[in-house]
Amino acid sequence: MPKPRFSPKTDPHILYQEAVQSPEGDIRLIDRHYKKLFGRPARTFREDFCGTALLSCEWVKLGKDRRALGVDLDAPTLKWGRTHNLSQLSDDQRARIELVRANVLEIARPKVDVLAALNFSYCVFKTRALMLAYVKNAHRSLNRDGMLFMDIWGGSESQTEHTDRRRIPGGYTYVWEQRSFDPISFHADCRIHFEFPNGKKLRNAFTYDWRMWTLPELKDIFAEAGFKDIHVLWETSDDKGRGTGVFRRTEKASDEESWISCVVGRR
Ligand SMILES: C[S@@+](CC[C@H](N)C(=O)[O-])C[C@H]1O[C@@H](n2cnc3c(N)ncnc32)[C@H](O)[C@@H]1O
Repeated sequence: MPKPRFSPKTDPHILYQEAVQSPEGDIRLIDRHYKKLFGRPARTFREDFCGTALLSCEWVKLGKDRRALGVDLDAPTLKWGRTHNLSQLSDDQRARIELVRANVLEIARPKVDVLAALNFSYCVFKTRALMLAYVKNAHRSLNRDGMLFMDIWGGSESQTEHTDRRRIPGGYTYVWEQRSFDPISFHADCRIHFEFPNGKKLRNAFTYDWRMWTLPELKDIFAEAGFKDIHVLWETSDDKGRGTGVFRRTEKASDEESWISCVVGRR
């Protein structure tokens, strides 16, 4: 029998999910924020650029009236999500998730209460025209009480060539390499590598050909696409300046080298 290329300990999707994603915290934040805005829980959730659909899986765990739709272009990644993530759900939870292979620019039905695009995946849209088309389509895809929720990474570090290393509790190292950043176009070549205690490396486990967007640009695009009550949830920091994972609605923030925040709009 041919040897599998990746063991569970080196499968890029498992490493990515562990090192990059925080589905429980993200879904808690999104769910609470929707309730705050609309005074009732959201029922339907669309996860754009869903990849392995980890957030959708978390969403359907919230209750029997919750449904999720995951959208991604890449069939093998969706298949991986079905095999490894949806398979961990109960039959009832799994029956409330649909994964579709589609372009997020093109799919607008079924309409949903919440549309989320996390981990900056929309940075694949490198022109304002494409970004606006995406946000307009998101607007069309939402119910009247609908919320668009996107995260954004910024700060001076996001506009430099740099490499960041982070030890992951699993015993390996997550490496974010921003190999190039062009200050004229804001195009960036970003890569994720993993390094293991035995000296082995998984180079270029994921590569991203991105345009970095700024908060004011996204807010303007949300407004042009028809969104209302556009606001920012800014992550609070502890006394050592580290992010706490707690996000608060705010109009002004002090500059930091690297920050992650969320941009929200109501349909
Ligand atoms: C960084 S991964 C996101 C993984 C995960 N959802 C997360 O939040 O970390 C980006 C995903 O976007 C998908 N993608 C890129 N362009 C797309 C498009 N136009 N429509 C749908 N999916 C797209 C890729 O196939 C890839 O799985």
